[in-house]
Amino acid sequence: MAKEKTIYTCNECGGTSPKWLGKCPHCNAWNTLIESVAESVAPAKNRFAALAKTAEITALADIEATDVDRTPTGQDELDRVLGGGIVEGGVVLIGGDPGIGKSTLLLQALDALQRAGQKTLYVTGEESGAQVALRARRLGLDGSQVQVLAEIQLEKILATLETHQPAIAVIDSIQTVYSEQLTSAPGSVAQVRECAAHLTRAAKASGTAIVLVGHVTKEGALAGPRVLEHMVDTVLYFEGDTHSSFRLIRAIKNRFGAVNEIGVFAMTEKGLKGVTNPSAIFLSQHAEPVPGSCVMVTLEGTRPMLVEIQALVDSGGPSPRRLSVGLERDRLAMLLAVLHRHAGVACMDQDVFVNAVGGVRITEPAADLAVMLAITSSLRGKPLPKGFIAFGEVGLAGEVRPAPRGQERLKEAAKLGFSVAVVPKANAPKKPIEGLTIHPVERVEEAMEVVRSLT
Ligand code: TYD
Ligand code: MG
Repeated sequence: MAKEKTIYTCNECGGTSPKWLGKCPHCNAWNTLIESVAESVAPAKNRFAALAKTAEITALADIEATDVDRTPTGQDELDRVLGGGIVEGGVVLIGGDPGIGKSTLLLQALDALQRAGQKTLYVTGEESGAQVALRARRLGLDGSQVQVLAEIQLEKILATLETHQPAIAVIDSIQTVYSEQLTSAPGSVAQVRECAAHLTRAAKASGTAIVLVGHVTKEGALAGPRVLEHMVDTVLYFEGDTHSSFRLIRAIKNRFGAVNEIGVFAMTEKGLKGVTNPSAIFLSQHAEPVPGSCVMVTLEGTRPMLVEIQALVDSGGPSPRRLSVGLERDRLAMLLAVLHRHAGVACMDQDVFVNAVGGVRITEPAADLAVMLAITSSLRGKPLPKGFIAFGEVGLAGEVRPAPRGQERLKEAAKLGFSVAVVPKANAPKKPIEGLTIHPVERVEEAMEVVRSLT
Protein backbone atom coordinates (compact mmCIF):
# COMPACT_ATOMS: atom_id res chain seq x y z
CA MET A 1 0.00 0.00 0.00
CA ALA A 2 1.33 3.42 -0.88
CA LYS A 3 2.23 5.53 2.10
CA GLU A 4 0.55 8.88 2.68
CA LYS A 5 2.94 11.76 2.52
CA THR A 6 2.76 15.48 2.95
CA ILE A 7 2.34 17.65 -0.11
CA TYR A 8 1.65 21.34 -0.50
CA THR A 9 -1.53 22.56 -2.17
CA CYS A 10 -2.05 26.01 -3.63
CA ASN A 11 -4.94 27.91 -2.13
CA GLU A 12 -5.49 29.81 -5.37
CA CYS A 13 -5.32 27.27 -8.15
CA GLY A 14 -5.35 23.98 -6.29
CA GLY A 15 -2.03 22.92 -7.84
CA THR A 16 0.35 20.84 -5.77
CA SER A 17 4.05 20.78 -5.05
CA PRO A 18 6.08 18.13 -3.24
CA LYS A 19 7.90 20.74 -1.17
CA TRP A 20 7.04 24.11 0.28
CA LEU A 21 7.72 27.03 -2.02
CA GLY A 22 7.12 30.74 -1.58
CA LYS A 23 5.62 30.91 -5.03
CA CYS A 24 3.14 28.47 -6.53
CA PRO A 25 4.80 26.76 -9.50
CA HIS A 26 1.44 26.56 -11.32
CA CYS A 27 -0.19 29.96 -10.99
CA ASN A 28 2.78 31.98 -9.66
CA ALA A 29 0.82 33.32 -6.70
CA TRP A 30 2.87 34.06 -3.60
CA ASN A 31 2.40 32.48 -0.19
CA THR A 32 -0.50 30.30 -1.20
CA LEU A 33 0.94 26.83 -0.64
CA ILE A 34 -0.65 25.06 2.30
CA GLU A 35 0.36 21.79 3.80
CA SER A 36 -2.01 18.96 2.98
CA VAL A 37 -1.99 15.22 2.78
CA ALA A 38 -1.37 13.45 -0.49
CA GLU A 39 -3.68 10.54 -0.95
CA SER A 40 -2.24 7.22 -1.85
CA VAL A 41 -2.19 7.23 -5.62
CA ALA A 42 -3.93 4.54 -7.59
CA PRO A 43 -1.70 1.72 -8.86
CA ALA A 44 0.28 2.76 -11.92
CA LYS A 45 -1.37 0.26 -14.23
CA ASN A 46 -4.70 2.06 -13.89
CA ARG A 47 -3.34 5.46 -14.78
CA PHE A 48 -4.28 5.40 -18.42
CA ALA A 49 -7.42 3.36 -18.00
CA ALA A 50 -9.55 6.37 -18.89
CA LEU A 51 -7.89 6.56 -22.30
CA ALA A 52 -8.77 3.01 -23.23
CA LYS A 53 -12.19 3.76 -24.63
CA THR A 54 -13.49 7.03 -26.02
CA ALA A 55 -16.78 8.64 -25.11
CA GLU A 56 -19.31 9.63 -27.72
CA ILE A 57 -19.24 13.13 -29.14
CA THR A 58 -22.24 15.10 -30.38
CA ALA A 59 -22.62 18.17 -32.57
CA LEU A 60 -23.78 21.18 -30.62
CA ALA A 61 -26.83 21.55 -32.85
CA ASP A 62 -27.98 18.02 -32.04
CA ILE A 63 -27.97 18.52 -28.30
CA GLU A 64 -31.38 19.38 -27.02
CA ALA A 65 -31.15 22.69 -25.22
CA THR A 66 -33.87 22.50 -22.63
CA ASP A 67 -34.25 25.41 -20.30
CA VAL A 68 -33.62 24.46 -16.70
CA ASP A 69 -36.55 23.88 -14.40
CA ARG A 70 -36.50 26.06 -11.33
CA THR A 71 -38.29 25.50 -8.09
CA PRO A 72 -39.00 28.78 -6.27
CA THR A 73 -37.84 28.72 -2.66
CA GLY A 74 -40.75 30.76 -1.39
CA GLN A 75 -38.35 33.58 -0.56
CA ASP A 76 -38.70 36.06 -3.42
CA GLU A 77 -35.47 37.87 -2.70
CA LEU A 78 -33.52 34.61 -2.55
CA ASP A 79 -35.13 33.46 -5.81
CA ARG A 80 -34.09 36.74 -7.38
CA VAL A 81 -30.38 36.10 -6.74
CA LEU A 82 -30.69 32.44 -7.68
CA GLY A 83 -32.16 33.45 -11.02
CA GLY A 84 -35.67 32.18 -10.32
CA GLY A 85 -35.25 29.34 -7.88
CA ILE A 86 -33.42 26.13 -7.10
CA VAL A 87 -32.27 24.13 -10.12
CA GLU A 88 -32.30 20.34 -10.16
CA GLY A 89 -28.78 19.07 -9.55
CA GLY A 90 -27.51 22.61 -9.09
CA VAL A 91 -24.90 23.36 -6.44
CA VAL A 92 -25.01 26.67 -4.62
CA LEU A 93 -22.27 27.97 -2.35
CA ILE A 94 -23.40 30.60 0.13
CA GLY A 95 -20.84 32.52 2.15
CA GLY A 96 -20.97 35.20 4.80
CA ASP A 97 -19.77 36.36 8.20
CA PRO A 98 -20.80 34.33 11.25
CA GLY A 99 -24.17 35.37 12.62
CA ILE A 100 -25.27 37.13 9.46
CA GLY A 101 -28.18 34.75 8.93
CA LYS A 102 -27.08 31.94 6.60
CA SER A 103 -28.59 29.15 8.69
CA THR A 104 -31.72 31.17 9.38
CA LEU A 105 -32.42 31.91 5.73
CA LEU A 106 -31.77 28.35 4.56
CA LEU A 107 -33.96 26.86 7.25
CA GLN A 108 -36.77 29.21 6.25
CA ALA A 109 -36.31 28.30 2.59
CA LEU A 110 -36.23 24.55 3.31
CA ASP A 111 -39.39 24.77 5.38
CA ALA A 112 -41.20 26.63 2.60
CA LEU A 113 -40.05 24.02 0.07
CA GLN A 114 -41.07 21.16 2.33
CA ARG A 115 -44.52 22.70 2.78
CA ALA A 116 -44.75 22.98 -1.00
CA GLY A 117 -44.31 19.21 -1.19
CA GLN A 118 -40.57 18.92 -1.88
CA LYS A 119 -38.36 16.47 -0.01
CA THR A 120 -35.72 18.37 1.93
CA LEU A 121 -32.70 17.55 4.07
CA TYR A 122 -30.81 19.84 6.40
CA VAL A 123 -27.38 18.51 7.34
CA THR A 124 -26.00 20.33 10.34
CA GLY A 125 -22.40 20.02 11.38
CA GLU A 126 -22.18 23.16 13.47
CA GLU A 127 -25.21 22.82 15.66
CA SER A 128 -27.03 19.91 17.24
CA GLY A 129 -30.47 18.88 16.08
CA ALA A 130 -31.89 20.45 19.24
CA GLN A 131 -30.34 23.81 18.39
CA VAL A 132 -31.78 23.66 14.89
CA ALA A 133 -35.18 22.77 16.35
CA LEU A 134 -34.91 25.71 18.73
CA ARG A 135 -34.24 28.05 15.85
CA ALA A 136 -37.17 26.60 13.91
CA ARG A 137 -39.48 27.28 16.91
CA ARG A 138 -38.17 30.81 17.09
CA LEU A 139 -38.90 31.26 13.41
CA GLY A 140 -42.45 30.09 13.99
CA LEU A 141 -41.93 26.97 11.91
CA ASP A 142 -43.77 24.68 14.31
CA GLY A 143 -44.56 21.26 12.97
CA SER A 144 -41.91 21.61 10.29
CA GLN A 145 -41.32 18.40 8.35
CA VAL A 146 -37.78 19.38 7.24
CA GLN A 147 -35.57 16.33 7.76
CA VAL A 148 -32.52 17.06 9.91
CA LEU A 149 -29.28 15.09 9.98
CA ALA A 150 -26.60 16.02 12.49
CA GLU A 151 -23.55 14.53 10.81
CA ILE A 152 -20.13 15.65 9.66
CA GLN A 153 -18.77 12.57 8.00
CA LEU A 154 -18.96 12.81 4.23
CA GLU A 155 -19.51 9.11 3.55
CA LYS A 156 -22.51 8.99 5.88
CA ILE A 157 -23.94 12.17 4.37
CA LEU A 158 -23.56 10.75 0.86
CA ALA A 159 -25.24 7.51 1.89
CA THR A 160 -28.15 9.41 3.44
CA LEU A 161 -28.51 11.50 0.29
CA GLU A 162 -28.67 8.34 -1.73
CA THR A 163 -31.29 6.58 0.35
CA HIS A 164 -33.39 9.64 1.20
CA GLN A 165 -33.20 11.23 -2.31
CA PRO A 166 -34.19 14.75 -1.26
CA ALA A 167 -35.01 17.40 -3.87
CA ILE A 168 -32.80 19.83 -1.98
CA ALA A 169 -30.15 19.38 0.69
CA VAL A 170 -28.36 22.02 2.72
CA ILE A 171 -24.88 21.28 4.11
CA ASP A 172 -24.26 23.66 7.01
CA SER A 173 -21.30 24.06 6.73
CA ILE A 174 -18.86 22.57 4.21
CA GLN A 175 -15.97 23.39 6.56
CA THR A 176 -17.25 20.97 9.20
CA VAL A 177 -17.56 18.01 6.82
CA TYR A 178 -14.70 15.55 6.61
CA SER A 179 -13.96 12.51 4.55
CA GLU A 180 -12.52 9.36 6.09
CA GLN A 181 -10.26 8.91 3.12
CA LEU A 182 -8.21 11.92 4.10
CA THR A 183 -6.26 12.24 7.27
CA SER A 184 -6.13 16.03 7.37
CA ALA A 185 -8.42 17.90 9.75
CA PRO A 186 -11.95 19.08 8.85
CA GLY A 187 -11.83 22.57 7.39
CA SER A 188 -8.41 22.06 5.82
CA VAL A 189 -7.98 22.88 2.16
CA ALA A 190 -7.74 19.26 1.12
CA GLN A 191 -10.84 18.23 3.08
CA VAL A 192 -13.00 21.11 1.92
CA ARG A 193 -12.05 20.57 -1.70
CA GLU A 194 -12.50 16.82 -1.58
CA CYS A 195 -15.85 16.94 0.22
CA ALA A 196 -17.22 19.67 -2.04
CA ALA A 197 -16.15 17.69 -5.11
CA HIS A 198 -17.90 14.55 -3.86
CA LEU A 199 -21.07 16.42 -2.99
CA THR A 200 -21.07 18.20 -6.35
CA ARG A 201 -20.74 14.87 -8.12
CA ALA A 202 -23.57 13.42 -6.02
CA ALA A 203 -25.77 16.41 -6.91
CA LYS A 204 -25.17 16.01 -10.64
CA ALA A 205 -25.71 12.26 -10.52
CA SER A 206 -28.88 12.27 -8.43
CA GLY A 207 -30.50 15.57 -9.38
CA THR A 208 -30.57 16.72 -5.77
CA ALA A 209 -29.93 20.44 -5.49
CA ILE A 210 -27.24 21.04 -2.88
CA VAL A 211 -26.58 24.24 -0.98
CA LEU A 212 -23.17 24.44 0.68
CA VAL A 213 -22.74 26.95 3.47
CA GLY A 214 -19.21 28.37 3.54
CA HIS A 215 -17.27 30.30 6.12
CA VAL A 216 -15.60 33.54 5.30
CA THR A 217 -12.03 34.40 6.26
CA LYS A 218 -10.92 37.65 7.89
CA GLU A 219 -10.18 39.02 4.43
CA GLY A 220 -13.78 38.37 3.39
CA ALA A 221 -13.05 35.54 0.96
CA LEU A 222 -14.62 32.13 1.29
CA ALA A 223 -12.42 29.94 3.43
CA GLY A 224 -10.97 26.98 1.61
CA PRO A 225 -9.48 26.87 -1.83
CA ARG A 226 -10.64 29.17 -4.57
CA VAL A 227 -11.36 26.06 -6.63
CA LEU A 228 -14.54 25.73 -4.58
CA GLU A 229 -15.95 28.71 -6.42
CA HIS A 230 -15.11 27.11 -9.76
CA MET A 231 -16.67 23.81 -8.82
CA VAL A 232 -20.15 25.02 -7.96
CA ASP A 233 -22.84 26.52 -10.21
CA THR A 234 -23.75 29.52 -8.11
CA VAL A 235 -21.84 31.56 -5.53
CA LEU A 236 -23.79 33.83 -3.23
CA TYR A 237 -22.39 36.17 -0.61
CA PHE A 238 -24.12 37.71 2.36
CA GLU A 239 -23.26 41.37 2.90
CA GLY A 240 -24.26 44.02 5.37
CA ASP A 241 -23.07 44.75 8.85
CA THR A 242 -24.48 42.66 11.65
CA HIS A 243 -25.38 45.82 13.59
CA SER A 244 -27.95 47.00 11.11
CA SER A 245 -30.94 44.83 10.44
CA PHE A 246 -30.51 44.83 6.66
CA ARG A 247 -28.81 41.96 4.89
CA LEU A 248 -27.87 41.73 1.24
CA ILE A 249 -27.21 38.62 -0.78
CA ARG A 250 -25.20 39.09 -3.91
CA ALA A 251 -24.72 36.58 -6.72
CA ILE A 252 -21.00 36.56 -7.55
CA LYS A 253 -21.32 33.76 -10.05
CA ASN A 254 -24.39 32.12 -11.48
CA ARG A 255 -24.51 29.56 -14.24
CA PHE A 256 -28.31 29.74 -14.20
CA GLY A 257 -28.92 33.47 -13.92
CA ALA A 258 -27.57 36.99 -13.82
CA VAL A 259 -24.62 37.92 -11.64
CA ASN A 260 -24.48 40.93 -9.41
CA GLU A 261 -28.17 40.59 -8.77
CA ILE A 262 -28.88 41.33 -5.16
CA GLY A 263 -31.55 40.30 -2.73
CA VAL A 264 -32.36 42.50 0.24
CA PHE A 265 -33.61 41.19 3.57
CA ALA A 266 -34.37 42.59 6.98
CA MET A 267 -33.56 40.50 10.06
CA THR A 268 -36.58 40.46 12.34
CA GLU A 269 -37.34 38.49 15.48
CA LYS A 270 -39.11 36.02 13.19
CA GLY A 271 -36.15 35.51 10.84
CA LEU A 272 -35.28 37.12 7.54
CA LYS A 273 -37.97 38.93 5.62
CA GLY A 274 -37.50 40.04 2.03
CA VAL A 275 -37.55 43.79 1.36
CA THR A 276 -39.35 44.17 -1.93
CA ASN A 277 -38.76 47.87 -2.42
CA PRO A 278 -35.26 48.52 -1.10
CA SER A 279 -34.49 51.69 -3.00
CA ALA A 280 -34.65 54.01 -0.02
CA ILE A 281 -33.24 51.91 2.84
CA PHE A 282 -29.65 53.08 2.45
CA LEU A 283 -30.42 56.72 3.09
CA SER A 284 -30.04 58.23 6.53
CA GLN A 285 -32.66 60.66 7.62
CA HIS A 286 -31.32 64.19 7.76
CA ALA A 287 -33.91 66.90 8.46
CA GLU A 288 -31.75 69.37 6.55
CA PRO A 289 -28.82 68.64 4.21
CA VAL A 290 -25.51 68.19 6.06
CA PRO A 291 -21.97 68.70 4.73
CA GLY A 292 -20.17 65.59 3.51
CA SER A 293 -23.23 63.70 2.34
CA CYS A 294 -24.13 62.92 -1.25
CA VAL A 295 -26.78 60.49 -2.48
CA MET A 296 -26.05 58.33 -5.51
CA VAL A 297 -28.18 55.93 -7.50
CA THR A 298 -26.53 52.57 -7.83
CA LEU A 299 -27.82 49.85 -10.09
CA GLU A 300 -27.30 46.46 -8.60
CA GLY A 301 -28.51 43.71 -10.86
CA THR A 302 -31.84 44.85 -12.19
CA ARG A 303 -32.89 47.30 -9.50
CA PRO A 304 -31.79 50.88 -8.96
CA MET A 305 -31.14 51.82 -5.33
CA LEU A 306 -30.38 55.11 -3.69
CA VAL A 307 -27.39 55.01 -1.39
CA GLU A 308 -26.01 57.82 0.68
CA ILE A 309 -22.25 58.32 0.48
CA GLN A 310 -20.75 60.10 3.46
CA ALA A 311 -17.35 61.69 3.65
CA LEU A 312 -15.46 63.29 6.48
CA VAL A 313 -12.38 65.35 5.75
CA ASP A 314 -10.49 66.42 8.82
CA SER A 315 -7.00 67.77 9.42
CA GLY A 316 -4.65 64.80 9.76
CA GLY A 317 -1.16 64.20 11.08
CA PRO A 318 2.05 63.85 9.10
CA SER A 319 0.73 60.80 7.29
CA PRO A 320 -2.97 61.41 6.77
CA ARG A 321 -5.33 58.45 6.65
CA ARG A 322 -7.60 57.37 3.84
CA LEU A 323 -10.29 54.98 4.99
CA SER A 324 -13.34 53.69 3.24
CA VAL A 325 -16.19 51.46 4.31
CA GLY A 326 -18.22 49.83 1.57
CA LEU A 327 -16.13 51.41 -1.17
CA GLU A 328 -12.74 50.49 -2.57
CA ARG A 329 -9.84 52.15 -0.81
CA ASP A 330 -7.52 52.17 -3.80
CA ARG A 331 -10.19 53.89 -5.80
CA LEU A 332 -10.51 56.53 -3.08
CA ALA A 333 -6.81 57.34 -3.35
CA MET A 334 -7.19 57.65 -7.11
CA LEU A 335 -10.22 59.92 -6.83
CA LEU A 336 -8.37 62.19 -4.39
CA ALA A 337 -5.55 62.54 -6.91
CA VAL A 338 -8.00 63.36 -9.72
CA LEU A 339 -9.77 65.84 -7.44
CA HIS A 340 -6.48 67.61 -6.76
CA ARG A 341 -5.13 67.56 -10.27
CA HIS A 342 -8.24 68.43 -12.24
CA ALA A 343 -10.49 70.31 -9.85
CA GLY A 344 -7.84 71.95 -7.67
CA VAL A 345 -9.28 70.46 -4.46
CA ALA A 346 -6.37 69.46 -2.23
CA CYS A 347 -6.72 67.01 0.66
CA MET A 348 -3.00 66.22 1.01
CA ASP A 349 -2.76 67.06 4.71
CA GLN A 350 -6.24 65.83 5.59
CA ASP A 351 -7.62 62.55 6.88
CA VAL A 352 -10.32 61.36 4.49
CA PHE A 353 -13.00 58.87 5.53
CA VAL A 354 -15.78 57.71 3.26
CA ASN A 355 -18.67 55.41 4.03
CA ALA A 356 -21.60 53.92 2.16
CA VAL A 357 -24.55 54.08 4.55
CA GLY A 358 -26.21 50.89 5.80
CA GLY A 359 -23.36 48.43 5.33
CA VAL A 360 -23.94 48.16 1.59
CA ARG A 361 -20.88 47.49 -0.56
CA ILE A 362 -20.67 49.43 -3.80
CA THR A 363 -18.47 47.92 -6.45
CA GLU A 364 -19.44 49.94 -9.49
CA PRO A 365 -17.37 52.97 -10.52
CA ALA A 366 -20.55 55.03 -10.99
CA ALA A 367 -20.08 56.01 -7.33
CA ASP A 368 -17.01 58.12 -8.19
CA LEU A 369 -18.77 61.43 -8.74
CA ALA A 370 -20.83 61.13 -5.54
CA VAL A 371 -17.69 60.28 -3.54
CA MET A 372 -15.87 63.32 -4.91
CA LEU A 373 -18.80 65.65 -4.26
CA ALA A 374 -19.19 64.34 -0.71
CA ILE A 375 -15.47 64.88 -0.05
CA THR A 376 -15.55 68.42 -1.45
CA SER A 377 -18.70 69.20 0.52
CA SER A 378 -17.08 68.02 3.76
CA LEU A 379 -13.86 69.92 3.06
CA ARG A 380 -15.75 73.15 2.43
CA GLY A 381 -18.22 72.54 5.26
CA LYS A 382 -21.05 73.22 2.83
CA PRO A 383 -23.95 70.84 2.32
CA LEU A 384 -25.09 69.87 -1.15
CA PRO A 385 -28.51 71.20 -2.18
CA LYS A 386 -31.67 69.57 -0.81
CA GLY A 387 -32.89 66.65 -2.94
CA PHE A 388 -29.53 66.29 -4.70
CA ILE A 389 -28.22 63.14 -6.38
CA ALA A 390 -25.15 62.41 -8.51
CA PHE A 391 -23.59 59.46 -10.25
CA GLY A 392 -20.94 58.83 -12.89
CA GLU A 393 -17.57 57.24 -13.30
CA VAL A 394 -14.57 59.57 -13.18
CA GLY A 395 -11.48 58.80 -15.24
CA LEU A 396 -7.85 59.68 -14.54
CA ALA A 397 -8.00 62.49 -17.06
CA GLY A 398 -10.86 64.08 -15.13
CA GLU A 399 -13.54 63.06 -17.60
CA VAL A 400 -16.96 61.96 -16.35
CA ARG A 401 -18.03 58.74 -18.03
CA PRO A 402 -21.59 57.49 -18.35
CA ALA A 403 -23.05 54.88 -16.05
CA PRO A 404 -25.05 51.99 -17.52
CA ARG A 405 -28.83 52.52 -17.68
CA GLY A 406 -28.81 56.15 -16.55
CA GLN A 407 -32.49 56.69 -17.38
CA GLU A 408 -33.62 54.07 -14.91
CA ARG A 409 -31.46 55.57 -12.20
CA LEU A 410 -32.83 59.05 -12.80
CA LYS A 411 -36.42 57.85 -12.85
CA GLU A 412 -35.96 56.07 -9.53
CA ALA A 413 -34.49 59.23 -7.99
CA ALA A 414 -37.40 61.32 -9.31
CA LYS A 415 -39.85 58.76 -7.95
CA LEU A 416 -38.36 59.13 -4.48
CA GLY A 417 -38.66 62.90 -4.60
CA PHE A 418 -35.13 63.95 -5.55
CA SER A 419 -35.10 67.17 -7.54
CA VAL A 420 -31.53 68.02 -8.63
CA ALA A 421 -29.11 65.71 -10.41
CA VAL A 422 -25.54 66.02 -11.66
CA VAL A 423 -24.94 63.25 -14.19
CA PRO A 424 -22.60 62.37 -17.05
CA LYS A 425 -23.59 64.10 -20.28
CA ALA A 426 -24.21 60.82 -22.08
CA ASN A 427 -26.74 59.87 -19.39
CA ALA A 428 -28.80 63.04 -19.76
CA PRO A 429 -32.28 62.03 -20.96
CA LYS A 430 -33.67 63.44 -24.19
CA LYS A 431 -37.08 64.05 -22.66
CA PRO A 432 -37.16 65.89 -19.34
CA ILE A 433 -38.04 63.84 -16.25
CA GLU A 434 -40.80 65.43 -14.24
CA GLY A 435 -39.67 67.06 -11.02
CA LEU A 436 -35.96 66.56 -11.72
CA THR A 437 -33.56 69.28 -12.86
CA ILE A 438 -30.66 67.60 -14.60
CA HIS A 439 -27.20 69.12 -14.97
CA PRO A 440 -25.20 67.10 -17.50
CA VAL A 441 -21.40 67.34 -17.09
CA GLU A 442 -18.43 66.08 -19.08
CA ARG A 443 -15.61 66.88 -16.67
CA VAL A 444 -15.13 66.77 -12.93
CA GLU A 445 -14.30 70.50 -12.71
CA GLU A 446 -17.61 71.19 -14.45
CA ALA A 447 -19.43 69.14 -11.80
CA MET A 448 -17.70 71.15 -9.05
CA GLU A 449 -18.71 74.38 -10.81
CA VAL A 450 -22.37 73.30 -11.05
CA VAL A 451 -22.45 72.42 -7.37
CA ARG A 452 -20.82 75.71 -6.37
CA SER A 453 -23.44 77.63 -8.36
CA LEU A 454 -26.22 75.70 -6.61
CA THR A 455 -25.07 76.17 -3.02
P1 TYD B 1 -27.47 32.48 11.97
O1 TYD B 1 -28.58 32.28 11.02
O2 TYD B 1 -27.19 31.41 12.94
O3 TYD B 1 -26.20 32.94 11.19
P2 TYD B 1 -25.05 32.13 10.45
O4 TYD B 1 -25.62 30.78 10.16
O5 TYD B 1 -24.82 32.97 9.23
O6 TYD B 1 -23.89 32.14 11.35
O7 TYD B 1 -27.61 33.85 12.77
C1 TYD B 1 -28.68 34.45 13.08
C2 TYD B 1 -28.44 35.70 13.87
O8 TYD B 1 -29.62 36.44 13.73
C3 TYD B 1 -28.24 35.47 15.33
O9 TYD B 1 -27.27 36.38 15.82
C4 TYD B 1 -29.58 35.75 15.96
C5 TYD B 1 -30.30 36.56 14.93
N1 TYD B 1 -31.67 36.11 14.71
C6 TYD B 1 -32.70 37.04 14.70
O10 TYD B 1 -32.48 38.22 14.87
N2 TYD B 1 -33.99 36.62 14.46
C7 TYD B 1 -34.28 35.30 14.26
O11 TYD B 1 -35.47 34.96 14.06
C8 TYD B 1 -33.20 34.35 14.28
C9 TYD B 1 -33.47 32.88 14.07
C10 TYD B 1 -31.93 34.79 14.48
MG1 MG C 1 -24.95 28.96 10.94
